Amino acid sequence: MGKTWLQDLIIEEARELVADLRNTLAKPVNPMQYLSPTIANVVCAISLGKCFSHKDENFRRLSTLISENSQTAAKNLLVEYFPFLRFVPFTRFSERYQAWMTNMADLSAFFKPLIQQHKQTLYEGEPRDYLHAYMLESEKQKDNPTTSFTSEQLLISIADLVGAGTDTTATTLAWAILYLIENPAVHERVQKEIDGVLGDGRYPTLNDRGSLPYTQATIFEVQRLANLIAVVQRRAMQEVTLSEYALPAGTDVVFLFSAVHEDPQFFPQPLAFKPERFLDESGKLRSRIEGFIPFSIGKRACLGEALAKMELYIFFVSLVKNFRFVVPPEEAVNSNDSLLFVVNSPVPYHVIFEPR
Ligand code: HEM
Repeated sequence: MGKTWLQDLIIEEARELVADLRNTLAKPVNPMQYLSPTIANVVCAISLGKCFSHKDENFRRLSTLISENSQTAAKNLLVEYFPFLRFVPFTRFSERYQAWMTNMADLSAFFKPLIQQHKQTLYEGEPRDYLHAYMLESEKQKDNPTTSFTSEQLLISIADLVGAGTDTTATTLAWAILYLIENPAVHERVQKEIDGVLGDGRYPTLNDRGSLPYTQATIFEVQRLANLIAVVQRRAMQEVTLSEYALPAGTDVVFLFSAVHEDPQFFPQPLAFKPERFLDESGKLRSRIEGFIPFSIGKRACLGEALAKMELYIFFVSLVKNFRFVVPPEEAVNSNDSLLFVVNSPVPYHVIFEPR
């Protein structure tokens, strides 16, 4: 995740994103239509070893399928807990389940030919992407009757990885644009800081990160308030005491991120958008931030944290450096409204990317 090629790839995608947005000629657009394919391309490079043209219709369809997947999956939460519900005919449960399965089948149809093509170019040695590594491991385990390295698991893992890596990062950036629109003083201060460091027209690299503490703090504040993954679920495998509660084995536990991110004990005036809460007295980013857990904690914490942080930083800085975000006159945006699917999303909005 920390390789230079990855940074180069993200910068290349940032250039393309900026070019695409310049081509919108300051007309109002839904930012997700531009962010999703950009972010999907980065995960495709890591998992499938392949990037696509943003204009490729088949690839644009992938971005749509990924966001539909988040929505259809969220609508099947009850079916996940009570799977028999999917068999009850003529109900919204069976209808929603069918919609989810159709979406999964469409996603599989996108990945299957790419996996086939990859098999033909398989070679021993340093794996060049996730798919390659997976195939080398399946080859090693081909005589193991209980292996989990099967074609079916591969398809699901790829869909999971591309899904988990796309909607999350793209939606966080959509929140970031929205919060800057609502907080013009923050927008201005971030622009000023970025202009001071990247005044010569170059794109940001990780080496500049230390010189952009307020920008980093703004990204953190966006993540804190967006509570992108609203909940995660666990099940107690054995009896356990959690705070003053005794949980018998088998208890389902649902963690609510906003309970931590909006706790005034960690974040005074928790609902206010205040990036400076992440800075110390000398203006540097605080090294330890109690209660800030957008990628969760523990053994099942986000696998893509390092990648997501790199992407958020490079894309956010590139966007702020190149554009002012302006709300079209007839539109009203409000960060208090959101749509909760698998990720917590802003209500779709339009923005004008005014070149600077
Ligand atoms: C801003 C971006 C992102 C946020 C806020 C985010 C957040 C999270 C959270 C909260 C979890 C649940 C952890 C838990 O169950 O305790 C998770 C899991 C996961 N994330 Fe992310 N994520 C982001 C980006 C990514 C990216 C870019 C990838 C991969 C390319 C990724 C891959 C995964 C995977 C595979 C899991 C499941 C891990 C497991 O169950 O062991 N995520 N993420």
